[in-house]
Amino acid sequence: MKEFNVAVLPGDGIGPEIVKQAIKVMDAVAEKFNFKINYEYGLIGGAAIDETGNPFPEETKEIVLKSDAVLLGAVGGPKWDNLEFSIRPERALLGLRKLLNAFANLRPAKLYDELIDASSLKAEIVKGVDIMVVRELNSGIYFGIPKGIFIDGDERVGINTLRYYEHEVERIAKVAFEVARKRGKKVTSVDKANVLEATVLWREVVEKVHKNYQDVELNHMYVDNAAMQIIRWPKQFDVIVTTNMFGDILSDACAMLTGSLGMLPSASIGGRIGLYEPIHGSAPDIAGQNIANPIATINSAGMMFTYSFHMPEAEKAIDRAVRAVLAKGYRTKDIMSEGCKEVSTEEIGDLIAEEIKK
Ligand code: NAD
Ligand code: IPM
Ligand code: MN
Repeated sequence: MKEFNVAVLPGDGIGPEIVKQAIKVMDAVAEKFNFKINYEYGLIGGAAIDETGNPFPEETKEIVLKSDAVLLGAVGGPKWDNLEFSIRPERALLGLRKLLNAFANLRPAKLYDELIDASSLKAEIVKGVDIMVVRELNSGIYFGIPKGIFIDGDERVGINTLRYYEHEVERIAKVAFEVARKRGKKVTSVDKANVLEATVLWREVVEKVHKNYQDVELNHMYVDNAAMQIIRWPKQFDVIVTTNMFGDILSDACAMLTGSLGMLPSASIGGRIGLYEPIHGSAPDIAGQNIANPIATINSAGMMFTYSFHMPEAEKAIDRAVRAVLAKGYRTKDIMSEGCKEVSTEEIGDLIAEEIKK
């Protein structure tokens, strides 16, 4: 029997609640397709700080490095917000992405027809939306140096640097064109090339890579316009490729096209071991209440089956099960609409897992 080793890092806030539902669904998939998943749990973020003083302990790194893929919930929360920057929970996530060389973050924003009423936009605007945001994840302003808070004369100055090497743009552009080839064959590269030199280079390199992908249409858009176009007419987009920070921001906006931040999964690929996590955070405002939407995490597990285990049929089974449960009218609070049945995090997890076994 085929076996896969998955490192599970539930993290903070709603992290443990939503990851638990994804595990139920993964177990149901394993049973259906006759393979075995071995889980090894690790501490990360605030949970790891509380236990060990370190948001990304060595033991967790070891667990991650001997796994075939990583499933992560979310990190962070008010309890740890005042810690020194280098030991904040969010640092662990950045460190994990670097450790795995997970430079390409795929964030699919696809609206299930069943959730048209959950979107804050009109049905005609969002019906059929299917966007893949390809976010550069290991460079840009998140990592460029100099960075920090320094003394300059008699005051302090905070500095971050937007920096991209050609090879970093080249590799993410390739991923975007490859992904587009298997979808709508259109890439929109989002930058701020009217102001920021780093993205002038970005645009030039994307153009160069495009020469090898002439079957894919390419256009460029400034990020301010892109933010507006996502709300105005999202169906113009197929694949959006963009920098680390622009991708972070635009993908949260795209999430609302699908009904809720709790609907958007992600896969972070590029290295030997893939990382799978919802795009949202630890949602401290609803943690511990059994009301969080686990579908983003469940669908992230779905992406794991395709991208790490080369079993797209398992991802399809998850997608079908999610759709079936939504079609029966079950909703978590964040996607609730009139005439539907509100269920808890646990209940929707059970329903989706049961649906897979059918
Ligand atoms: P957030 O994504 O945690 O929450 C934003 C809003 O969306 C909240 O109102 C929350 O209740 C709601 N929401 C998020 N996920 C949901 C879900 N699955 N179901 C229902 N509602 C959901 O963002 P925030 O409040 O800005 O950040 C909270 C903490 O999470 C911070 O410490 C932040 O640094 C961290 N964070 C972590 C990650 C990550 O681990 N990948 C991502 C973003 C933010
Ligand atoms: C995300 C989050 C992270 C990011 C933070 C928590 C480091 O917002 O995964 O989208 O900015 O990448
Ligand atoms: Mn984010």
